[in-house]
Amino acid sequence: MTAAPAECSPRTIRVQLSADPYPVVIGAGCLARLGEQIGDRGFREGTKVLVVTNPLVHQHYGTIALESLRQAGFEASELVVEAGEDRKTLATVARIHDAAFEHRLERGSLIVALGGGVVGDMAGFAAATWLRGIAVVQVPTTLLAMVDAAIGGKTGVNHPGGKNLIGAFHQPRLVLIDPTTLATLPEREFRAGMAEVIKYGVIGDAALFAELEAAGDIGSMAAVGPALLQTLLERSAAAKARVVAADEREGGLRAILNYGHTLGHVVETLCGYGTWLHGEAVAIGMVAAGEIALAKRLWSAEEQRRQKALIAAAGLPQRWPSLDPAAVLRCLQADKKVKDGRVRFVLPTRIGAVEIRDDVDSERILAALSAQISPESNPDQTSP
Ligand code: NAD
Ligand code: GLY
Repeated sequence: MTAAPAECSPRTIRVQLSADPYPVVIGAGCLARLGEQIGDRGFREGTKVLVVTNPLVHQHYGTIALESLRQAGFEASELVVEAGEDRKTLATVARIHDAAFEHRLERGSLIVALGGGVVGDMAGFAAATWLRGIAVVQVPTTLLAMVDAAIGGKTGVNHPGGKNLIGAFHQPRLVLIDPTTLATLPEREFRAGMAEVIKYGVIGDAALFAELEAAGDIGSMAAVGPALLQTLLERSAAAKARVVAADEREGGLRAILNYGHTLGHVVETLCGYGTWLHGEAVAIGMVAAGEIALAKRLWSAEEQRRQKALIAAAGLPQRWPSLDPAAVLRCLQADKKVKDGRVRFVLPTRIGAVEIRDDVDSERILAALSAQISPESNPDQTSP
């Protein structure tokens, strides 16, 4: 067990949904106040709470979470599921349902997702489907989940044919972010999370992008430091909260959050789930989207250079893997954003702005990807 500091002076960002607004609470040491925070959200003593986590996160933070819940008077139990993108399946969700049955979770009960995006997506989906929907609280412990996955209510699992094809929108009642939990996160995972932070810079926050550029090395917690970490957690959460509040069900605007994901999902699916981390695949996908934007003269070579330099400063990969072009096109057709057979890409127009386009033909996609395979254009490739 890793001891968490007892103090917690959180910053709160609200996701202003008209039906069920909820807070994103960010504060060092807040995990030890999980029970109290859940109590503040209106859950009464005696409520059954199932904490879903994975072995490593359980080892570091399981006891802190459970003790906090029990001290606050909740009837808490836990389920430890195997971690990993390849375990983000309906079979694992069925295990959560089994635990919900075993512990007799009722309509007023609660599931707490304690872990990275994989645990969060699966526990959220289990909560969305148990008794047609019970409450979920997201307690993200990876950078990626803190800045993205835990906020916004997308839950689900992978299908062999594509990422996140099975799922539901199910907003959490609370997102509790304790940055001190990142102390135990492996550096590769930290870097993967940084891809989503860079995404927020490109899609809408040029100042954040510039702040990251100015920091130089952003490839580890030590290099980033607590002040910039706090800034990027708050700015990312605020950006996500804004977009989700404006377009909860991805009728339009929310699709911009998928910048880098359309082609990133292709990398994840065709290379095998878990070969590349989600954030690494997003980094490759952002560079690929930048290449397409460049070919379509939507943005400049200088802006693509800046994007690639920042991705390199985060120690993230950028080179497109050598994949069968026909398989790439087939996989793109399975993307959730395909409409009338046309793939919709989020393409950058400048640092801080993107457009959603469905006018990218297959030849252009493949040409941009093959340019990205070239070693000259990607000298700093990192292997998975
Ligand atoms: P992950 O959940 O696989 O976690 C990465 C690894 O870090 C795991 O091995 C885990 O055991 C370990 N870990 C987690 N917290 C730790 C800690 N504090 N200390 C030590 N180890 C720790 O990966 P991820 O990057 O968090 O999430 C990726 C998933 O999130 C993907 O499945 C992706 O599709 C999903 N996602 C969802 C959304 C959404 O809106 N729902 C958005 C982005 C990504
Ligand atoms: N990560 C994309 C979204 O939440 O919409």
